[in-house]
Amino acid sequence: MGTLVEMKGIYKLFGGLCAINNVDLTIGKGEVIGLVGDNAAGKSTLMKVLSGVYPPTEGDIFVEGQQKIFKSPHDARNVGVVMLFQDLALVQDLDVTDNIFLGKELPKRIFGQDMRFLLDRRTMDERSEKFLRELEINVDSIKEKVKNLSGGQRQSVSIARTIFFNARLVILDEPTSAISVKETQKVLDLILQLKKKGVAVIIVSHRMEDIFNVADRVVVLRRGKKVEDIEKCKTTPELIIKRIIGLNDGAGCNQ
Ligand SMILES: Nc1ncnc2c1ncn2[C@@H]1O[C@H](COP(=O)(O)OP(=O)(O)O)[C@@H](O)[C@H]1O
Ligand SMILES: [Mg+2]
Repeated sequence: MGTLVEMKGIYKLFGGLCAINNVDLTIGKGEVIGLVGDNAAGKSTLMKVLSGVYPPTEGDIFVEGQQKIFKSPHDARNVGVVMLFQDLALVQDLDVTDNIFLGKELPKRIFGQDMRFLLDRRTMDERSEKFLRELEINVDSIKEKVKNLSGGQRQSVSIARTIFFNARLVILDEPTSAISVKETQKVLDLILQLKKKGVAVIIVSHRMEDIFNVADRVVVLRRGKKVEDIEKCKTTPELIIKRIIGLNDGAGCNQ
């Protein structure tokens, strides 16, 4: 499979609070990692460090063996690392096509010249329609404004967008916490489609079923430390929950 990203010795301090405490994390190409932990365990913070939202207080990030310093989410996106927040990646007042193409609009070509001020709407609409159809994402119309879509449809469109942009690692922070069961299944299907295309995914969720449904590996954070990093087939939801709350196997005492 090969390693895509390595985080080594990551610390993130907020004033006196150590939100991330010496975490190492390796992400393989096309690997799906389920990242779990109690509230305030540090999941979002670790993912924000990985996607360029925060610089780490200490520690290094490597992408395909090369050290990277992300000064912004833009830097991370440039090497294919993209984090999706609930809704945040989409512009609510634009339609589906515009959102798919955002930042990558096709200029109209006239007499072989790119006319940057004229966008080739028809081609953009055709392509986004075809693209969503391939991914089996149903929206009534690609002309629909994103704010009129359901939460699950928005989630699906934003995932589709990452594929369109050749992301290599997509980070989803609680993607299924606010959507219906049916829409959750769609999001989980899309994660598996990303994997099939060789894209790695980290899904942060407190829903153990979702994690066990799609992840290859499960990583547990507790109070900023990594306390478990295990292949899914070698563990169970019950064992993971024990790790999350800090119970030793069988012994039942706090670590
Ligand atoms: N921007 C911030 N400033 C100060 N403290 C923060 C900030 N972001 C997160 N924290 C703190 O860091 C800890 C980890 O938070 P977070 O990463 O959001 O946890 P999780 O996503 O696992 O619920 C919490 O104690 C939280 O209050
Ligand atoms: Mg969080």
